[in-house]
Amino acid sequence: MVKKDSKSKTREDVFKARFSRHFEELKWLYNELYDNSSMFAELCYQMRRYYGERDEALKESDADREQRPDWYKQNDMLGMMLYIDNFAGTIKGVEEKLAYLEACNVNYVHLMPFLDTVEGRSDGGYAVADFRKVQEKLGTMEDLAHLTASCHKKGINVCMDFVMNHTSEDHEWAKRARQGDGEYMSRYFFFDNYDIPAMYEKTVPQVFPTTAPGNFTWLPDAGHFVMTSFYPYQWDLNYKNPRVFNEMMYNFLFLANQGIDIIRIDAVPYIWKELNTQCRNLPQVHTIVRMMRMICEIVCPGVLLLGEVVMEPEKVVPYFGAVEKPECHMLYNVTTMATTWHTVATRDVRLLKKQLDIVNSLPKEYVFLNYLRCHDDIGWGLDYGTLMREGIGERPHKKYLNDFFQGYTEGSVSRGELYNADPVTGDARFCGTTASMCGIEKAGFEGDSEAMERAIRFDVTLHAYMFMQSGIPVLYSGDEIGQVNDYTYKEDPNKAADSRYLHRGPMRWELAARVKDPDTVEGKLFPRLKRLEEIRKGEKAFVCNADTWTIETWDPSVLCIGRHYEGETIIGLFNFSEFDKTAWINESEEEYEELITGADMQPRGVNIPAYGFYYLKKKS
Ligand code: GLC
Repeated sequence: MVKKDSKSKTREDVFKARFSRHFEELKWLYNELYDNSSMFAELCYQMRRYYGERDEALKESDADREQRPDWYKQNDMLGMMLYIDNFAGTIKGVEEKLAYLEACNVNYVHLMPFLDTVEGRSDGGYAVADFRKVQEKLGTMEDLAHLTASCHKKGINVCMDFVMNHTSEDHEWAKRARQGDGEYMSRYFFFDNYDIPAMYEKTVPQVFPTTAPGNFTWLPDAGHFVMTSFYPYQWDLNYKNPRVFNEMMYNFLFLANQGIDIIRIDAVPYIWKELNTQCRNLPQVHTIVRMMRMICEIVCPGVLLLGEVVMEPEKVVPYFGAVEKPECHMLYNVTTMATTWHTVATRDVRLLKKQLDIVNSLPKEYVFLNYLRCHDDIGWGLDYGTLMREGIGERPHKKYLNDFFQGYTEGSVSRGELYNADPVTGDARFCGTTASMCGIEKAGFEGDSEAMERAIRFDVTLHAYMFMQSGIPVLYSGDEIGQVNDYTYKEDPNKAADSRYLHRGPMRWELAARVKDPDTVEGKLFPRLKRLEEIRKGEKAFVCNADTWTIETWDPSVLCIGRHYEGETIIGLFNFSEFDKTAWINESEEEYEELITGADMQPRGVNIPAYGFYYLKKKS
């Protein structure tokens, strides 16, 4: 007789158990939104179908991860985001470079958008023409499934974008809608005159005020306006139509079945639109994300949802959902990222300390992705209420930050460019690589070796600080070797208008080849970052569930972060100024070991060089 333990349970039983766990809530939410039981029945049928098509190895990994729900919260998790063509030409090329990712201690690779798109109308791949086809120049779906399987053998997780807010105007649905097919027009927002668009424009802010002003595009051939919150070739999908939701969920499950571990839900706050609102973060968005989470837990529970919510903290946190009814597994720590650069410019850690305190006070179930920069611009979404109390106004401060990072202000060593400077609001965001913003570009150009040492030190310090934050760190490919801004995008007519390409340059393998030469920038930076990665991997105080807090240093330029887990404590001290500093902290009586040098040290009157840092581990 077969013993009915969890192993011998048939796959069918497993699916049924997961399905029945979520059935009532899923049905309730679906009908609340769509009141359409036949479409719901179709969704259920398709979930079963995608489960059936899911690879055995993936099902095994799902079952294993269900047993260890904290599997992704470990201190060895380190992400890297990269564009396939920039990094290695093709998907097969990425597979050949896995040893390099391993050398970088990366076990989570975010492959930037690689699905079918039209060159020149692609928004860096965020305008998808076919959710089931890889861009021809990059390879095929089979190459992708092969890559994910190879990554899994090496313990590397693969992340991809699910661009669900819109399709490209070259998507099959859009083409049919354009020809006047009502069934497909109803999957987007079509208007035969400007009356309703004009009403929307009264309350909906603009995403790309300069490069793509307005939220609607006139289609002369179709004689209609279509809603386009992003670029005119990115048509917003209408999630009021259950056909859109269902079909997009099937695309989602199809992609998950290629072996994707982490699905980044692109631009998620925008997916539901209502007149007389800002069309952002509406309650229905949360209903949809909650349904996605349940669909994921039923069909592919090993898959994580990463929400892209580039908003202020009050708007971000709800995307984790409630502890009992979770939505996303992970979210970007976007305000901390922007506040970090504010701190670099002002050399004043107070706002950052306050921001970290907010994040550290959240439930430990919430996992943030920490980063210094990504493929997008840095928007100055700071806590202006607090800054106002210091007499710092939003508009002049944004101007100060943008001037600073363009290298216009006294003492700035940064290089970079503005993004979507809006002449009406005076608002502008910023583009640049970490290395360029730390001074590596300027020092290299001027051949100033002393300035270069300082810039590299600061770059390492910022990474060391980022690794101390609560959550999972993610590097941008090329930052590990200090790649600077790439100005060649200006020569490419498909890119010239979008300054985000400044920090999306191709991986420079000729520089990566020098990581063992200590006389080069790469040879100084890469090993030091590697050391940090190894320390993080080796010390359990870096797990996501550790206690994390900030400590007063009595110096406005020195930030101190503490981490504690199962009896182990590590303290990080980070000097954000160009001056050497002496820091005192209260926990100073204890004995510590500095983890980089192995030296004994007490955080009492400790000298921190300009732009330097220490990792201090409490001795037991
Ligand atoms: C996200 C992406 C960004 C893209 C936008 C539209 O914000 O990060 O690069 O332009 O979505 O899809």
